[in-house]
Amino acid sequence: MTKAFVVGHPIKHSRSPLIHGYWLKQYGLEGSYERIDVAPVNFGEFLKGFRSQGFAGGNVTIPHKEAAFLGVERRTAQAERVGAVNTLWIEDGVLWGDNTDVPGFMANLDSTLGTGWEQDVDTALVLGAGGAARAVVAGVQDRPLKRIVVANRTLSKAEDLVRDLGSGSSVALAACALEAIPQAIPQARLIVNTTSLGMPGQPPLPVDLSRAPRDAIVADIVYVPLETPLLAAAAAQGLRTVDGLGMLLHQAVPGFRRWFGVTPKVTPELRALILADI
Ligand code: ATR
Repeated sequence: MTKAFVVGHPIKHSRSPLIHGYWLKQYGLEGSYERIDVAPVNFGEFLKGFRSQGFAGGNVTIPHKEAAFLGVERRTAQAERVGAVNTLWIEDGVLWGDNTDVPGFMANLDSTLGTGWEQDVDTALVLGAGGAARAVVAGVQDRPLKRIVVANRTLSKAEDLVRDLGSGSSVALAACALEAIPQAIPQARLIVNTTSLGMPGQPPLPVDLSRAPRDAIVADIVYVPLETPLLAAAAAQGLRTVDGLGMLLHQAVPGFRRWFGVTPKVTPELRALILADI
């Protein structure tokens, strides 16, 4: 029986066991996927020891994604670009790390909007400059856009992101402060929130969409609530919206394939199952 895990601290709110448990049942596979709470001080030891406990690999979540990046033996190109690892597996005795938020975000856009959505998108505006923003920029910069503008409260973090991901990119990257968002909005045909603003207890995102292009796409990676204030404002203006739940589901696909050998499908039934839990 193949065993996988999600490791974090705290971990009890992770929805990943629901997702992988659903797929294990759906595909009639003998396997398990369990939550493991590991404090940061013990993470290095966990990384070395999980094989001997019979695990094939697992997901890594807050606060261990950077430690996992540093602790693995090999990394995929997308993990290198993001600087964080959220998926681990063993291949020919080597501990590998991947960042599946990158294909997860893009697969969610493609499945919600249909492939080819990027044809009319010249400029994207990404709000935030943390790990999630890096995954979004790493995914979007593989598409034939002209420009990605990264807006962040702490301008230096946006500048670091642009420097780290900009070299060798055919898409021009630029950094700006939150105050410059109003100037960027009229050109932005893809607008993505990667900050935690809009979640319960957090202020709404300070973004006025009234001057956004009429064919703009607005995406949020926050999925609690599913309709964030940003997405509600976009929908009220008739803009296309992409919610954050799909990214959570799609980012789980590559890990499941690595550990259990089946490429699972993100179905409306799975979406409804997770929706009922949030
Ligand atoms: P993640 O890995 O989910 O991206 P993170 O690395 O902590 O998380 O990044 C959080 C992002 O939300 C950052 O861009 C942060 O801005 P700063 O770099 O200035 O901290 C942004 N953020 C969080 N709270 C914010 C707030 N109240 N106003 C504006 N931006 C905020």
